[in-house]
Amino acid sequence: MTPRPLAVVTGASTGIGYELAKYCADDGYDVIICANEPEIKDAAADLGRETVDAEILPIQADLGTKEGIETLWRALDARPIDALLANAGRGLGEAFLDQDFERAKDVLDVNVTGTISLIHKVGRQMRERGEGRILITGSVAGHMPGSFQAVYNGTKAFLDSFSYALRNELKDSGVTVTCLMPGPTDTEFFERAEMERTPVGQDDDKADPASVARKGYEAMKKGEAGVVTGFMNKVQTLFADLLPDTTVAQMHRRLAEPGRE
Ligand SMILES: NC(=O)c1ccc[n+]([C@@H]2O[C@H](COP(=O)([O-])OP(=O)(O)OC[C@H]3O[C@@H](n4cnc5c(N)ncnc54)[C@H](OP(=O)(O)O)[C@@H]3O)[C@@H](O)[C@H]2O)c1
Repeated sequence: MTPRPLAVVTGASTGIGYELAKYCADDGYDVIICANEPEIKDAAADLGRETVDAEILPIQADLGTKEGIETLWRALDARPIDALLANAGRGLGEAFLDQDFERAKDVLDVNVTGTISLIHKVGRQMRERGEGRILITGSVAGHMPGSFQAVYNGTKAFLDSFSYALRNELKDSGVTVTCLMPGPTDTEFFERAEMERTPVGQDDDKADPASVARKGYEAMKKGEAGVVTGFMNKVQTLFADLLPDTTVAQMHRRLAEPGRE
């Protein structure tokens, strides 16, 4: 019997990552899911109940650390990886100078260093095999200087850019790289980033994580370059790319400043 292909999904305990893992499992992959907290095991149990046949293996590791990346890499045990969905990430609200610097650094460590460190290892393996799909969860935030979320938006600008660059480098290799760029999505993200008291945090009209994940998953399967999810987010990124950065930074203040009505 041919073994099932293997997908690795990071940040899969909740939100967009959980839904991405579900699409992978429903589509015939065995799935290794990873997150930092013990709840990743509950997520694996839930996914196991919701999907048929797929083997779901949870790995608890802090992907913002070198040790955490090594833990996940060792758990992969040199198995060929067919799809890597590098989705783990976190935000942090407040003005930069009012943030605890260690927490701001955590955002960089998880979103940027951890993400590209894992992609470096898995990408080399995929290139050697001449096949593989990589999905990177960037954000529309990467198109905007993010007043009151400055470090986070900077990390997403990095990932959006990195994703397109890596894709180009790998263009004749059989490995595709796709960037998923969601707008505000109804997950635990805003609570974890302590952004509940901001206009974007209080917005009741956020996107459904399952629908965001489906668009990203389908784009990855087709080997597309990138997808901005949702019509209004497409319009917003178009304007953000055209307007002066000073204007966009002021617009972002209206979304993310704590206590603003
Ligand atoms: N929600 C939005 O509006 C939005 C918009 C654009 C892009 N995104 C991006 O979408 C991705 C998923 O976020 P989400 O909205 O689904 O939020 P979420 O529900 O908070 O999920 C974040 C996931 O990342 C994991 N994670 C965070 N730090 C980690 C670490 N150090 N090591 C390993 N795993 C870690 C979390 O696991 P633990 O709980 O175990 O830490 C969780 O599984 C993120 O990259 C985020 O930046 C979100």
